[in-house]
Amino acid sequence: MAARIPKGHAVTVRRAGPEDAPAIAAIHVTAWHETYTGLLPDTMISALTVEVRQAWWAQLLSNPPATRGGAAYLAALDGTPVGFGTCNAQRSDVLAAAGFDGEISSLYVLRAAQGRGAGRALMARMATRLLRAEYRAAGLWVLRENASGRRFYEGCGGTLLDGDAGLRVQGRFTEVAYGWRDLAPLTVLAPDPGLGPGAPRPARRTAPPRARARGG
Ligand SMILES: CC(C)(COP(=O)(O)OP(=O)(O)OC[C@H]1O[C@@H](n2cnc3c(N)ncnc32)[C@H](O)[C@@H]1OP(=O)(O)O)[C@@H](O)C(=O)NCCC(=O)NCCS
Repeated sequence: MAARIPKGHAVTVRRAGPEDAPAIAAIHVTAWHETYTGLLPDTMISALTVEVRQAWWAQLLSNPPATRGGAAYLAALDGTPVGFGTCNAQRSDVLAAAGFDGEISSLYVLRAAQGRGAGRALMARMATRLLRAEYRAAGLWVLRENASGRRFYEGCGGTLLDGDAGLRVQGRFTEVAYGWRDLAPLTVLAPDPGLGPGAPRPARRTAPPRARARGG
């Protein structure tokens, strides 16, 4: 496993552009291996090469869909890209019908850089983007077996949706849904980079202490 990045390093988040396609593709492929090995079939994981992903990201970042509030963000630690996230209008009819009009559509941070605030900073930035685009709420789907990702979303104040609205089967895989009825608390999960380095960190809204199991 890669060495962890020492604490105390500065997290920055900015909008991603076409020039970021190679960095995001590399993070995407590595994070897929780190997250889904053992949860998804190896063939599915290895099919996603950097070349395939880079072409996909280059296309997306060069010709972003003209939907309200859609954006991709890149997180860096001391200038080194370590994670990304995307947000957009809700694509799931079920979640849209339940009132979750915005979507956090992807979120990945390299394992070596996890636990340094990049995930929260990305969530905060995407929530701000959605709020400014006049979305009221956000929802997302996550693989049911991705215990680590689910813990993170719960720590960010996400609510596991009950009933039919909260479960979907995609081929051989089952996903569960998390929702945020109010985007405002998400926007303050991390200090606004515009406020400068002295900005106070907001109070945490976290789940009770739990074992740190990574890789799921
Ligand atoms: C989920 C993920 C994006 C979180 O990013 P991150 O940079 O590690 O998150 P942060 O450093 O901002 O951590 C925020 C909080 O979550 C906790 N946390 C982060 N990852 C955790 C994990 N895997 N297990 C338990 N807690 C975790 C941190 O301790 C922190 O809590 P605290 O502020 O109370 O100490 C990242 O772990 C990841 O990319 N995982 C693999 C991909 C994935 O599952 N994505 C989501 C579903 S698609």
